[in-house]
Amino acid sequence: MKKPVIIKLSRVKKYFPLDGVTVKALNDISLEIHQQELISIIGPSGSGKSTLMNLIGCLDKPTKGRLIINNKAAENMNTDELARLRNKDIGFVFQSFNLLPRLTALDNVELPLIYAGVDRKRRKNIAREKLTAVGLTDRLHHFPNQLSGGQQQRVAIARALVNNPKIILADEPTGNLDSKSGDEIVKILQDLHRKGKTIIVVSHDPDFAKISQRIIKLKDGKIIN
Ligand SMILES: Nc1ncnc2c1ncn2[C@@H]1O[C@H](COP(=O)(O)OP(=O)(O)OP(=O)(O)O)[C@@H](O)[C@H]1O
Ligand SMILES: [Mg+2]
Repeated sequence: MKKPVIIKLSRVKKYFPLDGVTVKALNDISLEIHQQELISIIGPSGSGKSTLMNLIGCLDKPTKGRLIINNKAAENMNTDELARLRNKDIGFVFQSFNLLPRLTALDNVELPLIYAGVDRKRRKNIAREKLTAVGLTDRLHHFPNQLSGGQQQRVAIARALVNNPKIILADEPTGNLDSKSGDEIVKILQDLHRKGKTIIVVSHDPDFAKISQRIIKLKDGKIIN
């Protein structure tokens, strides 16, 4: 039986005005994603994949249409409300890791907990636990430039998990990795899915296609199947 809907887009459009012309990055997207689904999004460069992820991840708002995340209407929220929803319900993993270079692995993972107002001792404990879960117990005090790409991505996943979000969004998470490190990331995301997370991955990696329940294909800002 299908689980309840956790993400719902109704006739969503995202336009970017640029130099007097309008780029229609997303053009009338309707989509329902159920709790504990694992979905891959594919499509050519410029088809709107990252734009869609940024809307679902509350990093941006639709130009038109409705966007419901975990029963909350995100399309009407102001920047603070969007940030709160993002911190609580969503973990984001990017192709380029996006770790802060001057912070250790532990401090990078702790960061969202500082924003969430968690006290220092609990922060350290949670960050250590999440880094252990991705196999990095012995790298807590390394800086990003002292870690391999695969290790940096695992730190980024640990950081995405600290607030215990229901939804994990990953935009080409293996794009900058060799195949062995990429395999590890696929396994970690698959394991998180088994533990009940809703996961959306933008990737052309066939390994993600294999473990996905659905593949959504975008072209010119529209879903084509
Ligand atoms: N901030 C912006 N301002 C203007 N145009 C934008 C902006 N962001 C994205 N676009 C345009 O919207 C379209 C969709 O971009 P998007 O980044 O979502 O593509 P993508 O499918 O993720 O591509 P890729 O596979 O190369 O990452 C592109 O034509 C892009 O140029
Ligand atoms: Mg992209």
